[in-house]
Amino acid sequence: GGYKRIMRLNNCYNFHDFRDLARRRLPSPIYHYIDGAADDEKTHHRNTLSFDSCDLVPNVLRGVKDIDMSVTVMGQKLKMPIYCSPTALQRLFHYQGERAVAAAAEKYGTMFGVSSLGTVSLQEIRKHRNPQVYQFYFHKDRGLNNAMMSDAKKAGIEVMMLTVDTITGGNRERDLRSGFSIPFRLTLAGMLQFALKPMWAFNYITHEKFSLPQLDKYIDMNNGALSISNYITEMLDPSLDWNDVEKMVATWSGEFCLKGIMSVEDAKKAVDIGCTGIVISNHGGRQLDGSRSPFDQLKEIVDAVGDKIDVIMDSGIQR
Ligand code: LAC
Repeated sequence: GGYKRIMRLNNCYNFHDFRDLARRRLPSPIYHYIDGAADDEKTHHRNTLSFDSCDLVPNVLRGVKDIDMSVTVMGQKLKMPIYCSPTALQRLFHYQGERAVAAAAEKYGTMFGVSSLGTVSLQEIRKHRNPQVYQFYFHKDRGLNNAMMSDAKKAGIEVMMLTVDTITGGNRERDLRSGFSIPFRLTLAGMLQFALKPMWAFNYITHEKFSLPQLDKYIDMNNGALSISNYITEMLDPSLDWNDVEKMVATWSGEFCLKGIMSVEDAKKAVDIGCTGIVISNHGGRQLDGSRSPFDQLKEIVDAVGDKIDVIMDSGIQR
């Protein structure tokens, strides 16, 4: 504290600064959609707390003039051991959406993910040369799943990342209060919040129309307001099981990663069905409140399967 901060991107030095800036710039239903999590948000807090209780014991005098942080993950050579995990609906947060994230990931030589609920097409984002992950949601309609997979193959996606922790919509109470949905069908209070952020509204209206190109071709997403929770509950297949995924791994026949693994038992199953990677993740605490933090599960999972499969971790840190 101490300094009164003028909030601009150039003055953002850490995560908290970005978060403050987002709170000031975004209509509050959108801010709370990204910032929020499920139920009492206990897991969401825990994701950060588990890092707070970890400390480092450095060794010195190793000659650090040239530092090579590169790693190879699921066949992709990255310049640093961090990547940009996929998130949905990026166009809502800034009019450049996934384009800006892809450009930043390319600049730093790392991988990034585009969601099934992404707002820029896989094909367009492919212009960037860095490795691209497709965060895939498994729909009830198997024909749709196959079409989406073949679109991804055609677009030259390197890594298929099936999300398995979002079988039902999380109970996100902040979204329920604001009425957050796509297209917007806000409560009166939510509408007022949009009116209070004219800059965001100006950019939103004066740039390309909001769309979900991965899905628009197949589903009429604009037919009535669709809350994220309804999309997940109505469109995604709750019967999805290990046999379905085993078939999907075979169909994709490439780097295949399961996102949302938390237990050693499931990590071993992922190895057995031929996955090449897993992401330890609780979906940023946005799904099952009460679950452990990925950081606290990391050692156990790496000790069990680290020599057989690539292990990525979603930090899920938000505050
Ligand atoms: C979310 C889903 C859509 O967490 O990934 O909002």
